[in-house]
Amino acid sequence: MGRRTFIAGNWKMNKTIAEAIALVRELRSAVSMVRDRVEIAVAPPFTALHPVAKALEDSNVILAAQNCHAEASGAFTGEVAAPMLKEVGCSYVILGHSERRQLLGETDAGVSRKVAAVLKAGMLPIVCVGETLAEREANQTLSVVEAQVKGCLSGFGKEEGARFVVAYEPVWAIGTGKTATSRQAQEVHAHVRELLRGLWGREAAEAVRIQYGGSVKADNAAELLGQPDIDGALVGGASLKVADFAAIVKAKG
Ligand code: PGA
Repeated sequence: MGRRTFIAGNWKMNKTIAEAIALVRELRSAVSMVRDRVEIAVAPPFTALHPVAKALEDSNVILAAQNCHAEASGAFTGEVAAPMLKEVGCSYVILGHSERRQLLGETDAGVSRKVAAVLKAGMLPIVCVGETLAEREANQTLSVVEAQVKGCLSGFGKEEGARFVVAYEPVWAIGTGKTATSRQAQEVHAHVRELLRGLWGREAAEAVRIQYGGSVKADNAAELLGQPDIDGALVGGASLKVADFAAIVKAKG
């Protein structure tokens, strides 16, 4: 349906400023030839956003942040607001990552408020959803993902919704080396698109990019990205090495 593949690197809490600059200098030349086919983003830690933005000027790699606060300013010690991320050059903000849900008590309602803040600041959200191993084994995958999609996204209309990115990241596949099979992933992606159709209608749902995340590597990316409803990848560990990330960017051929 003409959805442009979107590969994003979630660096998590990794890379000093010097390491970050070295990585993106190498990355920008490694992926320069896929300019129109693939949208490429990196999400460094907050401390590296500004230098990375400078190092990516005039490249085809854009900037994302890993989180933000729902308020635009105020007495929230240690937090970073969406307008600050826009100012530093971010186009996207990853929201509701399972590590934040599990370790920091992030909820669907909280993610929904952050989505609103990101939109208001002129950026777009990458909204993460996904089931734990216990939930998958209890056959709750689709219902868990359904509750997350609705809880995070039902407050938004189809005009804005069509530009959102959803990342399906089964918790048991993150950083574990275990990837969902392309069949398992496609099943959930198709379900997510069905839910989006319910929320926003067919046209908007067809426009949303749904990324897969969870141990995406150079050698499994092509198979995953070959599925009809897998429109990209949210890459953790493999985004920290230029060769691995560039190979994923080029995997769709
Ligand atoms: P991983 O992480 O690729 O290291 O499994 C993915 C993510 O958490 O976004």
